[in-house]
Amino acid sequence: MALGWLYALSMALVWGCVASSSYHTTVAPPQDLQITDPGLLGSLDIEWKPPPNVQMFNECTVKYKFEYRNTGDRDWKVIFTRKLKCRVGFDLSKTAEVKVQTLLEGQCTDNVEVQSDWIYATFQVPLQGKLESEVQNFHCIYHDWEYLKCTWQPGLLAPHGVHYGLYYWYEGLGHAAQCDDYIQDHGINIGCMLQNLSQAEYKDLSICVNGSAAATLLRPLYVTLRLHNLAKPSPPKQLVVSMSASEELHVAWSPPGGETPPQCLEYEVQLAEDQGEAKAAWVSMSTQMETTLTISRANQSRISCVRVRGRTNIFCADQGFWSEWTQECFSVSRKEDKQLFILIPVILSLSSSLIIFMLIGQCKKRSPAGKPLHESVGC
Ligand SMILES: *[C@@H]1O[C@H](CO)[C@@H](O)[C@H](O)[C@H]1NC(C)=O
Ligand SMILES: *[C@@H]1O[C@H](CO)[C@@H](O)[C@H](O)[C@H]1NC(C)=O
Ligand SMILES: *[C@@H]1O[C@H](CO)[C@@H](O)[C@H](O)[C@H]1NC(C)=O
Repeated sequence: MALGWLYALSMALVWGCVASSSYHTTVAPPQDLQITDPGLLGSLDIEWKPPPNVQMFNECTVKYKFEYRNTGDRDWKVIFTRKLKCRVGFDLSKTAEVKVQTLLEGQCTDNVEVQSDWIYATFQVPLQGKLESEVQNFHCIYHDWEYLKCTWQPGLLAPHGVHYGLYYWYEGLGHAAQCDDYIQDHGINIGCMLQNLSQAEYKDLSICVNGSAAATLLRPLYVTLRLHNLAKPSPPKQLVVSMSASEELHVAWSPPGGETPPQCLEYEVQLAEDQGEAKAAWVSMSTQMETTLTISRANQSRISCVRVRGRTNIFCADQGFWSEWTQECFSVSRKEDKQLFILIPVILSLSSSLIIFMLIGQCKKRSPAGKPLHESVGC
């Protein structure tokens, strides 16, 4: 009896589920998708309004799936949000594409996520000037985590009397700022030094290099940098090489100065042993953060050189630049040399005592008998 009742109940539940999933709630996409440029050299503001019928779903959550990319990118970047706006970074030299859809989930959908169609929008800053007028070979290096040095060359179509300007922005700056320390060549700005960027580390740093010339429009260059991936430390300091009795080389150094975080460094150590006339080849070893290394010397050569350089490690960055080398050369006396060094004083002392004995013998012969030896001045 009880079994039959249970069976009836479970059947009823199954039918209930089938019935409700066959009923589809639908939701409209958001409205009025708009992209505006706040003048931050890459960040754009994207806003939309809720779908028209959204107040019907008061026992459901309304979320938005927002996707964006630059035209030409393979993948969309995705953000889920309940808000009605987003600020995200683009490469302004390309078209920005965005799309948004409504996501509905809760009692009104039997806790199944319901998606609306997409709504799309694109944005492109007015691209003035010919592409060949854009500056070339733009490079930046973040030296010692202290200052950023960027350099470029004038564009191929750069007219006479061109004036370039570098502008930058990162999250936290109210508005885009202009470089105030340009590097010049014959009166033309070809680089910029930016100090005091620690607030911009591990963020997107948007840069624009644009230019003006009397009658010609020039194409601006837009780049987005990540400082920690452009770091170049100074060479390591206080390199000390010592050798133990077991013929092992102990190499020790200090992290470079500046603001480089010591825990962000890895090192490469190279040893070259001079085999007589042959030019020594460098043999590489590496360490992660450690600033000492013990090397067993395979070749008992007379002169060896050790050099060390540092770079940002994978715990702090995807990539970085190697520092210059710090080098220390030293000579080690060979085993045969050591024996020679011990022999020389022995031979010297033996021969000098021989000479003294002979001289004393001479003096004794010459001095008259009975006269005390100490009066024989001149010997
Ligand atoms: C460095 O930047 C901060 C804000 O990020 C500012 O308050 C400070 O005055 C700046 N220092 C120098 C030396 O420019
Ligand atoms: C260069 O870009 C800055 C920042 O967007 C802007 O204020 C300036 O007017 C531009 N200059 C030229 C010559 O286009
Ligand atoms: C020792 O010498 C051999 C050949 O003479 C060379 O291949 C090897 O790399 C050297 N080892 C070191 C540590 O310099």
